[in-house]
Amino acid sequence: MERLLVTGGAGFIGSNFVHHLMEHTDLRVTVLDKLTYAASKESLEGLPEDRVQLVVGDIAEAEVVDPLVAEHDAVVHYAAESHNDNSLHDPSPFIKTNILGTFTILEAVRKHEKRLHHVSTDEVYGDLELDDPKRFTEDTPYNPSSPYSASKAGSDHLVRAWVRSFGVQATVSNCSNNYGPWQHIEKFIPRQITNVIDGIRPKLYGSGENVRDWIHADDHSSAVLTILEKGRIGETYLIGADGEKNNLEVVQLILTLMGQPADAFDHVTDRAGHDLRYAIESGKLRQELGWSPQFQDFESGLADTIEWYQAHEDWWRPHKDAVEATYAEKGQ
Ligand code: NAD
Ligand code: DAU
Repeated sequence: MERLLVTGGAGFIGSNFVHHLMEHTDLRVTVLDKLTYAASKESLEGLPEDRVQLVVGDIAEAEVVDPLVAEHDAVVHYAAESHNDNSLHDPSPFIKTNILGTFTILEAVRKHEKRLHHVSTDEVYGDLELDDPKRFTEDTPYNPSSPYSASKAGSDHLVRAWVRSFGVQATVSNCSNNYGPWQHIEKFIPRQITNVIDGIRPKLYGSGENVRDWIHADDHSSAVLTILEKGRIGETYLIGADGEKNNLEVVQLILTLMGQPADAFDHVTDRAGHDLRYAIESGKLRQELGWSPQFQDFESGLADTIEWYQAHEDWWRPHKDAVEATYAEKGQ
C-alpha cells in the first residue's frame, strides 16, 4: 500500500489521522474534503507537500470520487456530518453525506477493487442504562436514536452489505467520544473550554448524568491504522479506551483545571432524545490486533487540550459568537 485516500481529512479526527500517518508510515495521502463549516485547512498546515495533497470535493458526487479512488490503493472514510444537535435541526445533509456519500464511496471501491476502512461511531448501538454491567460489543444490536446516529448506522449497514453481496474488501470501526486539539467548538468539551476562556458559564444539558466514554483522538488514529494494516476483511472493531465519565464530572474538571469554582456552570435545556450512556468493550481490537491506547489519564489529556485551545484562540475565535448564538436560540 502506497497511496491512501482519506475522506474528511480536514476535520477533527481525519486530520489527526493524516498527522499520525506522516509520523508512523511512509504512505502518501490525498485528503478528499468538502471543507464544510466543520473543516479546517489549518489542521493540515506544515505537513510535507510531497506526501499530502488536498482535493476539495463532495463524497456524494461520483464524478469526484470515482477517479480518485481509481488512483489510490485504499480509502479510509471519515467524511461525515458529525454533530447530533445539528441533525436535530436539519437532518438532510446527514442523509446526503453519511448515507449517499458512503454509497458513492462503496460503488467506487467496488468498481476499482480497492480496500476500504469505514469509520463509524458507537452511537449506532443506542444507549445503555447507567447501571448496566454490559458495555457495547461488536454483537450489540443496532438501535440508533438521532438522525445523525441513524445515518451512521445506515452507512455501516451499506458497508456490510457491499462486503457480503459484492465481496468489497472493507472493515468497519465504531469508536467512542473523541477529545483533543482541532475539535470544532460546537462540541461539548471545546465549547465549555472556550466558554470559560470567554467568562461564559459552561452549559450542561439536563442533569448532566449522561455518560460518554472518552478517548483521545491520537488513540483513535492508532486504532484505525492498526485495523487498516491488520484487520480481517468484513470485520467490525470497536474502539474505546475505558474512559467513562458523566458530563457533570467533565464540566467540573474543566472548571477546576481552569482555576474556576467547580459549580460555576448552568443547567440548560436537554437535547431531544438525549442518549444516556455509551460504553465500549474493545477487547476484540486489543486481543486480536494487539492495539492499546496511549492516553490512559483523561485529566492530563484534558489539561493538554485546554492549553491547546488557550494557545489557538485565533483558530476558534471567528466562530465563537455564531456558535453561541445558535445554542442560545434553543435555550442551550
Ligand atoms: P468533523 O465534523 O470534525 O469532520 C468531518 C469532515 O468531513 C469535515 O472536514 C467536513 O468538511 C468533511 N465533510 C463533511 N461532508 C462532506 C462531504 N459531503 N464530502 C467531503 N467531505 C465532507 O467530524 P469528526 O468528529 O472528525 O468525525 C469524523 C468521523 O469520525 C465521522 O465519520 C464520525 O461519524 C466519526 N466519529 C466521530 C467521533 C467523535 O467523537 N467526534 C467518534 C466516533 C466516530
Ligand atoms: O460517541 C461518539 C460520538 O460522540 C460521535 O459519533 C459524534 O460525532 C460526536 O459528536 C460525539 O457525539 P455526542 O453527542 O456524544 O457529543 P457532543 O460533544 O455533542 O456531546 C457530548 C455530551 O455532552 C452529550 O451528552 C451532550 C452533552 N452536551 C453537549 C454540548 C454541546 C452538554 O451537556 N452541553 C453542551 O453544550
